[in-house]
Amino acid sequence: MSWTTEQIAAMVEPDRAHRKAYTDPEIFDLEMERIFENTWIYIGHESQVKEPGDYYLAQVGRQPMIMVKDKNGEVQVLYNRCPHRGAQLCTARKGNTGNNFYCSYHAWTFHLDGKLESMPAKQAYEGTNLDFEDPEFHMARPARSDNYRGFWFAKLSEGGPDLRSHLGESASAFDQLIDRAPGKETEVVGSCFRMVQQSNWKIFLENQLDASHPGVTHESTGKSAQQVEAKIRADGKEVPLELSFLSDFARLGHDGWTKFGTIGFPNGHSSLEGYMGLRPDDPDTNEYVRRMYAAYGEEKAEEILAVNIHHMLVYPCNSVQPPLQQLRTIRPLGPDRTLTEIWHFRLKDAPEEIYRRSLAYYYLVNSPSTLVNADDLFNWWKCQHGLESSAREWVSFHRNAGQDIEEGDKTYSAPDTMSEMPLRHMMHAWRDYMTAEKEA
Ligand code: FES
Ligand SMILES: [Fe+2]
Repeated sequence: MSWTTEQIAAMVEPDRAHRKAYTDPEIFDLEMERIFENTWIYIGHESQVKEPGDYYLAQVGRQPMIMVKDKNGEVQVLYNRCPHRGAQLCTARKGNTGNNFYCSYHAWTFHLDGKLESMPAKQAYEGTNLDFEDPEFHMARPARSDNYRGFWFAKLSEGGPDLRSHLGESASAFDQLIDRAPGKETEVVGSCFRMVQQSNWKIFLENQLDASHPGVTHESTGKSAQQVEAKIRADGKEVPLELSFLSDFARLGHDGWTKFGTIGFPNGHSSLEGYMGLRPDDPDTNEYVRRMYAAYGEEKAEEILAVNIHHMLVYPCNSVQPPLQQLRTIRPLGPDRTLTEIWHFRLKDAPEEIYRRSLAYYYLVNSPSTLVNADDLFNWWKCQHGLESSAREWVSFHRNAGQDIEEGDKTYSAPDTMSEMPLRHMMHAWRDYMTAEKEA
């Protein structure tokens, strides 16, 4: 069927959403057009391309993109498509392309800013409509690209808000990834974990702020970690902080998980308050705080460290966990397939042990090989299959519905709840994007 705007709007009610929003191939195509190819989508961090010629591939909606460092040290975002007969110019995920892009099909070459440089038998184009100055013969650019403090985004349509306005308060997640560094800089470490989830992209985003699932889905992991902790204690040794990343899942219990507030921001962004107590009184943390005081002064350093976010969802494509320097980005591949990239960052001039802590979280909680992630992936796969059945038409977001607290342009979950407010908030944003007039 072809979906009308009215039908799409009717898929989202105040406390539920229609299953076809997660399963229908035409809805998926419309999402690509109206959300992913229409709003600001994360490309990558500038530290992925340090030297001229360094490039990294990304995807915006269905469009293959390249982030490259040009000869002037500027980051350029270009479509990965040769203007001659369409070949992709880069196929390795990352690398250094040298002084130019070279198309392996007929050897057209392009400057690092995408301008056509040359081709064999150039004289054959004399007197034709091919004009070296005409952008039609350059590598195409997205309508807009911009960065927020080194985090690069592209927008494939003109109009709409600039990047800073689009991000609004969600930008604080990127601030935190930088400002928590005593050296006031951050950089990605190595490459990322990539995996394909067999489920819709919205199921992933919803899970990130779903406080009611960790105590259930990750209970077995939490209990196992508690047993390991008990054994370490019985041996008279100190329990490493990293184990609490796992044992918290069991320790917090139902009441524990009600303590953490969530906030919905304009444009679909949302946050979950931190719960991990990442400022223990240990020598590494104390040394880190000392370096932060030296860099910023005590008052400013405390202000930075007081920001307590576990997850910031930058709709529709990022989940950022600033206190542990993690960033996940999603690239939807189909209604039931979603590519996730999981990055982590190193804070300049922080003690090595603070970096090791974020690395441990990367391996223990976020990597594709952990039990935590495996249990999540299995649930999302089961949700996708369940939603493909016509047994019921609706997905329920009723928990604490009607109790959300609106203040200015923010929506707060009711206190002491595991409210599904962020899930309702995202689906309402989805409806707004999907039914808006396309930005010209
Ligand atoms: S397709 Fe690129 S040079 Fe022909
Ligand atoms: Fe989970």
